[in-house]
Amino acid sequence: MKIGIIGAGFVGRTIAKLAIQAGHQVMLSNSRGPQSLFSLKPMIGCEIGTAAEAAIYGDIVVIAVPLTALGQLPVTELAGKALIDAVNYYPERDGQVAELDNRSTTTSEYLARFLPESKITKAFNAIRMPDLENDGLPAGDPQRRALPLAGDDLETKERVRRLYDEFGFDSLDAGSLSEGWRFERGMPSYCVRMTKSELTVVVEGAKKFE
Ligand SMILES: NC(=O)c1ccc[n+]([C@@H]2O[C@H](COP(=O)([O-])OP(=O)(O)OC[C@H]3O[C@@H](n4cnc5c(N)ncnc54)[C@H](OP(=O)(O)O)[C@@H]3O)[C@@H](O)[C@H]2O)c1
Repeated sequence: MKIGIIGAGFVGRTIAKLAIQAGHQVMLSNSRGPQSLFSLKPMIGCEIGTAAEAAIYGDIVVIAVPLTALGQLPVTELAGKALIDAVNYYPERDGQVAELDNRSTTTSEYLARFLPESKITKAFNAIRMPDLENDGLPAGDPQRRALPLAGDDLETKERVRRLYDEFGFDSLDAGSLSEGWRFERGMPSYCVRMTKSELTVVVEGAKKFE
């Protein structure tokens, strides 16, 4: 599968590396342009391009930018695309967003406002990148960590489930995109190592308002 990645920081690079190890083709992009990613091409074995090029390239596209950059994403090129939303909201970094502070919307629904024609699945947000690189285990291992996902498009969710599996993780489908709050920053499952049965209990029992 071809994976376009917008954002070439910790998240973009880690997903790129693991995806290439799993046999996928990857194009990484950032805001400063491909010349600033020159050394990554031989280091990771990925293609490099602009954000719009990565959007066109991907059968699936990973959004791995700060929340403040959502308004600059290539909307036209991302229309109709399967997207993975790894974005988290940190007010101390991103500034206050009232609807996210009062939980009247989720970060992925907030992204969907900018990209109304994309098929968004929230995933890869609730794990630190060193753990994504090092915590993977073979399928069937009783200690295998599970990672959550949420979205409205079943085919995109299935692609994400397969990627999680290839990277060494079970997956827990938390439901539609609007259920993504269950594993946002600050929720009990956020960046905590759990097996699928443990994660199921914690995600299902999550409380939107404490
Ligand atoms: N770090 C983690 O362990 C982790 C885990 C899960 C989720 N997350 C979330 O994933 C997102 C990315 O985190 P990160 O740690 O990878 O951040 P990071 O290291 O700061 O990297 C951010 C990347 O986004 C790019 N970017 C910024 N604005 C852009 C734009 N308008 N168009 C294209 N690219 C743009 C930056 O490129 P330039 O430098 O060229 O601007 C940079 O490559 C955040 O929302 C974060 O909360 C992080």
